Amino acid sequence: MRHFVVVGILVVAVAVLTYLGLHTVGLMPVPASAQAGPIDWLWDLQIKAMTFLFALIVVPMVYSLFVFRRRKGDTSDAEHIEGNTTLEIVWTIIPLFMVLGMAYIGAENLAETRRVDPDAMVVRVTGYQWGWTFDYPDYGITSNELYLPVNRQALLKMESRDVIHSFWVPEFRVKQDLVPGRVTELRITPTLIGDTYKVRCAEICGTSHAYMEAPVIVVEKVAFEAWVAEQQALASEAGQTPEGRGLALVTANGCRACHSIDGSGGVGPTWFQLAGSEVPLSGGGTVVADDAFLKESILQPQAKIVAGFEAQQMPAYNFTDEQVADIIAYIKTLK
Ligand code: CUA
Repeated sequence: MRHFVVVGILVVAVAVLTYLGLHTVGLMPVPASAQAGPIDWLWDLQIKAMTFLFALIVVPMVYSLFVFRRRKGDTSDAEHIEGNTTLEIVWTIIPLFMVLGMAYIGAENLAETRRVDPDAMVVRVTGYQWGWTFDYPDYGITSNELYLPVNRQALLKMESRDVIHSFWVPEFRVKQDLVPGRVTELRITPTLIGDTYKVRCAEICGTSHAYMEAPVIVVEKVAFEAWVAEQQALASEAGQTPEGRGLALVTANGCRACHSIDGSGGVGPTWFQLAGSEVPLSGGGTVVADDAFLKESILQPQAKIVAGFEAQQMPAYNFTDEQVADIIAYIKTLK
């Protein structure tokens, strides 16, 4: 009996200390959505259950190793035990109800994170190798950054242009795959203003999977409306010139996920000062980046590969001649 009391006290102590230890490490980023509430609550409950089970197994094991070790000179066999039906029934029934209880709590929790707000704002999300595009059908704008007003539910309707991707902003907690040929949905109600969030792809999807990110910016309602107005003005202005239309195409197709416009590195060659420059090719030689080369590089990206970018396979894009001319006009502005 004395052993049970000592082990019991040690189990509780180790469980509490392990839980407090894990708690101070701060395993989770800041919660920034309404959906994070139930998820963090369930996570905490599971950590508590796990630390208790950990202590329940490890403490009696270590205790037995020391207290019931074989004494010097003792060569007798241990006691032979045939089994214990009561014990077996107990350790089957209790975990069974624990697992059923967890399943029930999990289902409730999932329903909570999917609660529908009829006032939600729809954002169409397109994922592709290797970037993101966000369309706001209510406002007729397209962006490579996900702007969201705080405290209003966003209903993301997500599609993939190629392979399976996964939309994940750790601060919002919820995560959803994008599956080619299907529209999947995710509901997020941001609760914390901030501009340091990022969508990151959480499904391995090719060589540049690790770079498949996009900024997420949560702002006040007023600031969101100002951003929308600004984007609408830019879009209508842009429609008037080839450079503007080119920029709109570049945004809608997510080109800048791979090509920088300021000379910095990326998955693909930068567009900064590209037009008219001499470009080294893979396997030796150079080519002048004139209209013909730029057009070929958009429509048949593997025809001539720029030195240093052999590992990347840019997909071929299907643009009309006018669209290609608009994109080239835009690239020429980057000098
Ligand atoms: Cu897209 Cu990984």
